[in-house]
Amino acid sequence: MGELATEKHVQYILSVEKRKDDFQSVVMEHLRMNGAYWGLTALDILGKLNIVDADEVVSWVMSCQHESGGFAGNVGHDPHILYTLSAVQVLALFDKLDVLDVDKVTNYVVGLQNEDGSFSGDIWGEVDSRFSYIAILCLSLLHQLDKINVEKAVNFVVSCKNMDGGFGCTPGGESHSGQIFCCVGALALTGSLHHVDKDLLGWWLCERQVKSGGLNGRPEKLPDVCYSWWVLSSLIMIDRVHWINKEKLIKFILDCQDTENGGISDRPDDAVDVYHTYFGIAGLSLLEYPSLKAIDPAYALPVDVVNRIRLGKRHAI
Ligand code: FPP
Ligand code: ZN
Repeated sequence: MGELATEKHVQYILSVEKRKDDFQSVVMEHLRMNGAYWGLTALDILGKLNIVDADEVVSWVMSCQHESGGFAGNVGHDPHILYTLSAVQVLALFDKLDVLDVDKVTNYVVGLQNEDGSFSGDIWGEVDSRFSYIAILCLSLLHQLDKINVEKAVNFVVSCKNMDGGFGCTPGGESHSGQIFCCVGALALTGSLHHVDKDLLGWWLCERQVKSGGLNGRPEKLPDVCYSWWVLSSLIMIDRVHWINKEKLIKFILDCQDTENGGISDRPDDAVDVYHTYFGIAGLSLLEYPSLKAIDPAYALPVDVVNRIRLGKRHAI
């Protein structure tokens, strides 16, 4: 089995950051805040975040904030809860949450909760269990979870649960590993995991492992490196990670590396991108691959960053 090409991946992530006007960057421009979270968290797990100029990143992040308190994917774009979480996570990585006007960001997130407890992604109102997780995580990082109706938020997430033990985007929506991660994460962060049927869901999730060792997102789909994160983090949160073959999954992720130019793709021999590079490295961290920082499956941030934030709360009380 090959090894993780750490140095190549670091160079790849840095090169994507610099390449601002090629095709991929143009297509990705409006979601650059997500890209920053993926790339920077990957660098942190690899132990290389110090290569980046923190002040430059923090000032760019803050230039994406709107009057409403929400953050956009880039300067001059519209705010959305997706980018707001990424902005908060990036600031957390650099221990710079103190630059935020916490009330302003909190008000933005609180304003997106609907009467039934669900969350909209932005003022246009699309509802999705992803946004419930994002709102709950964002407010947890800011120690402001008590500002929303947590009981209603949990009830909405539970209403997205299916007969197969999984969760969908909205009530009745098909079970999908990405949504399962979001719903299990939201329940974990609110101390509500008793709503999950762990054996039933664990069974559905471990069936996502295919012959090559990779994991897919739904039955009959091809394996994909990013599901190493969505499935594995969910299995860890419900204490069923020993139900999959870890060695085979490590091999699948390593087989998706571009060992020449760095980066990780969705499947062996496909083109690499930052999203799969991050989730491949984050998956390996969950699998306790040597020399990687541990990542927290519910916060999707390195464990040391999460501990720093939790400790900060203790000092504040
Ligand atoms: C599938 O992606 C993944 C999801 C639907 C979950 C997305 C979750 C978030 C955006 C919440 C924030 C996440 C973190 C880690 C902080 P896809 O639709 O690209 O899957 P596909 O490969 O099946 O197309
Ligand atoms: Zn993918």
